[in-house]
Amino acid sequence: MADRFAVILAAGKGTRMKSPRAKVLHEVGGRTLLAWSVALAAELGCKRTIVVVASDAPDTTAAARKLVGPDNVVIQRQPLGTANAVDAAREALDGADGQVIVLYADTPLVPPSACEQAFAALDGGASICVLGFSATLPNRYGRLILEDDGALQAIVEAGEATPDQLQVDFCNSGVMAAPVKLMFELLREVNNQNAKNEYYLTDLVGLARRRGLRAAAARCEERDVQGVNSQIELAAAERAFQERAREAVMTNGVTMTAPETVFLSWDTKLAPGVTVEPYVVFGLGVSIESGATIKSFSHFTSAKIAQGAEVGPFTRLRPGASIGRNAHIGNFVEVKNVAVGEGAKANHLSYLGDGEVGAGSNIGAGTIFCNYDGFFKYRTVIGKNVFVGSNSALVAPITISDGAYIGAASVITEDVQPDALALARGRQSAKSGWAKGFREKQSAAKKAGKKPKGAV
Ligand code: UD1
Ligand code: CA
Repeated sequence: MADRFAVILAAGKGTRMKSPRAKVLHEVGGRTLLAWSVALAAELGCKRTIVVVASDAPDTTAAARKLVGPDNVVIQRQPLGTANAVDAAREALDGADGQVIVLYADTPLVPPSACEQAFAALDGGASICVLGFSATLPNRYGRLILEDDGALQAIVEAGEATPDQLQVDFCNSGVMAAPVKLMFELLREVNNQNAKNEYYLTDLVGLARRRGLRAAAARCEERDVQGVNSQIELAAAERAFQERAREAVMTNGVTMTAPETVFLSWDTKLAPGVTVEPYVVFGLGVSIESGATIKSFSHFTSAKIAQGAEVGPFTRLRPGASIGRNAHIGNFVEVKNVAVGEGAKANHLSYLGDGEVGAGSNIGAGTIFCNYDGFFKYRTVIGKNVFVGSNSALVAPITISDGAYIGAASVITEDVQPDALALARGRQSAKSGWAKGFREKQSAAKKAGKKPKGAV
């Protein structure tokens, strides 16, 4: 296989986003548009990926450097058009031998399989190949004009197209592949004599054909090459990503009763045999093993759930939450940085932060791990088969050993030994007959029109 290289164009202004953030740093499925393109190039096995950024975009430049390394970020001095942008990678790819694919950083959801078709066309003898799609609204896209034999004759930008050409709905996605040397040779011949006075990358097709070379168009689906130019299109891309991600997990054996209400991230891992009820949000870094059930209205970030566990409804799992096999975490329970052991339960209204809960332990309703003193955080370590009574405050750092019981409503500030009962609350006392006497006294005062001292 020929070596592959990628040039990612990220130098556009993105003014239509109307956002203080650079367009390509907006996210779909929890990953920036730029990172999506870089990941695509990696999936295609590109030996080097060059990102083209504008000279006045420090945030994009910094993000690109992190993703591909400083040597692979090049600057387009002025936004003179897509051909000029690719040309900015000329020096970086000097001496590179193989095939290059041009990707737009604002087109996040191109599947690797679509790009593979473009490379396959090159391997099949075409000198240049673009990815095209049938557009529902072709208006501003470049039109792909085909020969009778299906070869690509030209790409005509909407601004230069004849009325007949505007009728064509087969449009240019922007993804283009060619041998590296040929692409940079042809780029020297592009001029800006056109409606926008820009250097059009799309001119490469005509220039290649003038040399007697063959150009091809591969076909992909519209939703795969949706570009992001506005907040509305960003939301549309998110929708497309979510649909695709849900389809992928369901194809893989995940049960979802209302998939349209479940939100996934690009790295969400749901094993076959997971059940997800309606209205669940998976933030970044979540993985769930087979047989786990996620009940409605739950929100997870950087959390793990093991086989057979039941989580939700209304559970919040924050970074470092790890829910063991067959454990139950119920409504209004927040777990952060706590490993919950096999078969343990915290079913109602609790905060478990920084610590561990041993296998088989039961955390009563309203239990709070008091993990923070305003400056530092401390761990709460609960052993196996511990029973924590309802409404207990466990003041960390603290260890409650195997088999211990905590009486309800205790404020526990000292370690509890194995199998001990710890009580830390006022002792109950009862005054017999007191209530009856009280009622008699008060009702007599009321009848007499006398208010006790302080009453209003
Ligand atoms: C381009 C294509 C058009 C295609 C459409 C698909 C050309 C001439 N036209 O049009 O055929 O249908 O994309 O969306 O290529 N960019 C730079 N520097 C520049 C100009 C653009 O980096 O000087 C980047 C932009 O950030 C963007 C991409 O190139 O990621 C496309 O640029 P844009 O101006 O949006 O091209 P279109 O006019 O939409
Ligand atoms: Ca565009």
